[in-house]
Amino acid sequence: MKKSVYILLLAMCCHFNSIAQNVGDELNLMPWPQKVALGEGRLLLTKDFSLSITGEFDTRIYEYSNRFLRRLDGRTGLFFNQGMISKNTNFSKNAILKINIERPGKIQLHEDESYELKVSESEIILKAITDLGAMHGLETLLQLQSTTASNFYFPVVVVEDAPRFPWRGLMIDVSRHFQPVEVIKRNLDAMAAVKMNLFHWHLSDDQGFRVEILKHPKLTSLGSDGNYYTQAQIKEVVAYASDRGIQVVPEIDVPGHASALLTAYPELSSIDRENSIERNAGIFDPTLDPTNKKTYKLLADIFAELATLFPSPYVHIGGDENEGKDWDENEDIQEFMLKNDLKSNHDLQTYFNIKLQKILAKSDKVMIGWEEILTPIIPTSAIIHSWRGVNEGVPAKQSLVDAVKNKNQAILSNGYYIDLMYSVEDHYAVDPMPEVALTEEEKNRILGGEATMWSELVTPNSIDSRIWPRTAAISERFWSPKNIVDMESMHRRLGIISYQLEELGLKHISNRDVVLRNITNNQSIYSLKVLSNICEPLKGYTRNKDGVEYQMYSPFTLFADACVADAADKRKFKRAVANYVSDNSNTEELSKILHVWIVQNEAFLSLNKNPKLNSIAPLYQNLTTVSKVLLAAITTNTFNVQDKDVLRAALVRMQEANEVDVEFAIVEDLVVLAEFVSQMKEIQPIENK
Ligand code: ACM
Repeated sequence: MKKSVYILLLAMCCHFNSIAQNVGDELNLMPWPQKVALGEGRLLLTKDFSLSITGEFDTRIYEYSNRFLRRLDGRTGLFFNQGMISKNTNFSKNAILKINIERPGKIQLHEDESYELKVSESEIILKAITDLGAMHGLETLLQLQSTTASNFYFPVVVVEDAPRFPWRGLMIDVSRHFQPVEVIKRNLDAMAAVKMNLFHWHLSDDQGFRVEILKHPKLTSLGSDGNYYTQAQIKEVVAYASDRGIQVVPEIDVPGHASALLTAYPELSSIDRENSIERNAGIFDPTLDPTNKKTYKLLADIFAELATLFPSPYVHIGGDENEGKDWDENEDIQEFMLKNDLKSNHDLQTYFNIKLQKILAKSDKVMIGWEEILTPIIPTSAIIHSWRGVNEGVPAKQSLVDAVKNKNQAILSNGYYIDLMYSVEDHYAVDPMPEVALTEEEKNRILGGEATMWSELVTPNSIDSRIWPRTAAISERFWSPKNIVDMESMHRRLGIISYQLEELGLKHISNRDVVLRNITNNQSIYSLKVLSNICEPLKGYTRNKDGVEYQMYSPFTLFADACVADAADKRKFKRAVANYVSDNSNTEELSKILHVWIVQNEAFLSLNKNPKLNSIAPLYQNLTTVSKVLLAAITTNTFNVQDKDVLRAALVRMQEANEVDVEFAIVEDLVVLAEFVSQMKEIQPIENK
């Protein structure tokens, strides 16, 4: 045993550093580790599999290890002899997985999260400085678990790993649509599975103030529709996150995005109006009055209570998208600006931000804000959250660069807006490190990034399918070496990671069926599933474009809610078309796909109708029309003039907006195929048909 590890180590001397994507073709790791050396051989899993823990550590590793064992026996169906472990457990010296930890880890940025994992044919050694590193190592081990027809096993391998960036975050907006504790918890589990360590909890916005503040119960009694977290629930979530190595940063978005807060405290508004909880999506006028002392008193009370709930040193104050319209309209505010030499609304907001920064500093909290808070005079202690890009009319990452040059630390979210429903490839291609020249000191101020899940268009039922699996690929961007960029490898590994997330209770796969069952009224969903696997929800905020088609209480149980950003069969079809175009005797795969679409439309048409199904029928009809023409063309080599017109008209209809808020993910490849067959095939006279 020892000998084989030794040989492996020797072999690795030559291979480490130059490894990477080629090994990734065999292993299902995500995020990809800093160093991996795959050896020969396997450690077979049996019911005798057991683990031991030695060293100095936080007790959370016991529960993490129990969850590890239960996930492993759940996957394999093996009845491990080792049951539940606790601090009273006497570990056997012969345990197969030996975990050694040097010291308890602190839930803080820049904590040591490294680990080393060595799997030989007879034992596994997991070493880490902190229990946080050991927890990451256990996740890697779970991802290494493999299966043959007769065995479950771990491959012989050595992994040395540590994160590239310290801040690897996911933001969830719980204001637009409230997300119950269980939703947050299962997403924290998924975050831990892909080694993310920071949960940014967007707790207030125009559509709801979601955290109980004991001193100001009106905030939730008037500003939340009854959907908020009690302080006990907040503590429960923070503890749950901490047990998974995750820090929780709360956000109270001010001075704009404050309709809900100002519904409870209209006297703090910048103009006299009846505020109400906002039901639409967009940017709204109600803004806190920065000239009113009571504004700061309320915020100081809120931040003081948050400080008792969130051990994190960071508090996010939002600060985004304040257009200052209410400030323009208030003469007293205008006079205040003149008197204080505040030349613009941005100056006034900086005045406000600096006051908040001082309030936060009293409870030793560091202020974070969206990039609008960045001005030359904002204290350098403030962390700048870069989010705007071309859609907002500014260069992407500009504020990130400006911030670090201004000596502020910064994190990036532009490029990681998962609510926009762009492909995982778009997010995966964005690196937090800008291309422009930066000094080492400036580079070190870039802490990492955050995927942002804005919740205008998601409910507890659909949110998982908007966050996962794309966020796993984003987590790789934050954790792994910069040169891990191969799209094919990412897709292959992501498919496996996605399905493994289900063992944590994630509903990103299963809830799509729930939506489809609702649409069919409990008839067979297969035909709809086939269609949903080639459709994607409209992208880039084109669904609910003006913010008023869907209100926050509208149904999100529609066909678009069963579709995801990367339609499952898109790449398969692309490949089939490419294969056929490069060799037109290669018809088998392509004709099979086209045939399925035609047949499933028949199945769809045989369902008992209802209005929800009726709205989808034209999509299927167009797909079938196109598929029939193309199938005939590639299998019989006939393609006549009349077909060409039918095909063109149906393709145009497929490209047009439709009333069910989806787009066909295969339409580009259908056009490629249509052009190919219309050029390559002999066009038959109509009368020969
Ligand atoms: C933002 O997306 N308004 C930060």
